Amino acid sequence: MPAKVTAPSLRTKRLEGIPIVCVTAYDVLSGALCDQAGVDVILVGDSVGNTVLGYSTTVPVTLDEMLHHVRAVRRGVDKALLVADLPFGTYEVSKEQALESSIALMKAGAEAVKLEGPYSEAIEHIVRAGIPVMGHVGMTPQSVHSFGGFRVQGRGDQATRVLEDAKVVMNAGAFAVVLELIPGELAASITQELEIPTIGIGAGSGCSGQIQVFHDIMGLSEKVHKHAKLYVNGREQMVKGLASYAEEVRSGEFPKPENTF
Ligand code: KIV
Repeated sequence: MPAKVTAPSLRTKRLEGIPIVCVTAYDVLSGALCDQAGVDVILVGDSVGNTVLGYSTTVPVTLDEMLHHVRAVRRGVDKALLVADLPFGTYEVSKEQALESSIALMKAGAEAVKLEGPYSEAIEHIVRAGIPVMGHVGMTPQSVHSFGGFRVQGRGDQATRVLEDAKVVMNAGAFAVVLELIPGELAASITQELEIPTIGIGAGSGCSGQIQVFHDIMGLSEKVHKHAKLYVNGREQMVKGLASYAEEVRSGEFPKPENTF
């Protein structure tokens, strides 16, 4: 039986060169499926805004919405490390605000929190309270309006900024850092320089692990992103299944006597 994954155990994986597998989840079912499949880290991402709540960005996601989804995922997860995103506006104001928001997520069942950007004081303060923090640099979706869209970061002169951000996050005490949408070569060199695991998304194979959005790899998103790969054509299969059900109900084919009490 696989052992419970913890924040410190990810450092061991990195040292042993074992790639870390991370996927997002938003409810008890997606959480349980990831856990059963042996995923190491399950992130209740603020991407819940796009994937489940119908927002066009993660910016509107609230702490209450995150708490609701963290509680649901918690009920389906046993072995994986459960990380929860601090949504936009719940950690930037002060380190005290960051800690209060983190405590709320931990009380809802998270075992670590993730925040975007080089917020060193907030990270230090949260870590001091006994809460493991995952950083997130590069393309940080909560800053989409500053970036002018979901664009690759760290090209050319920007590379130094991404490396510096990753170091700030590590030096503040984060146990791992997500590198999102940055060139593969840069991600590989950041991974070499840091002493904590790097978790890539659209950042190539040179990272210590990979994270993907559940809906993207299960074929539930409307489009297939370059950084993702379909492992199941979920949307197509579900629509087909639902259309067959509708047809059989309308034709009287379903339910049959064996479906009837
Ligand atoms: O919210 C999210 O899904 C994320 C991952 C893409 C890293 O932050």
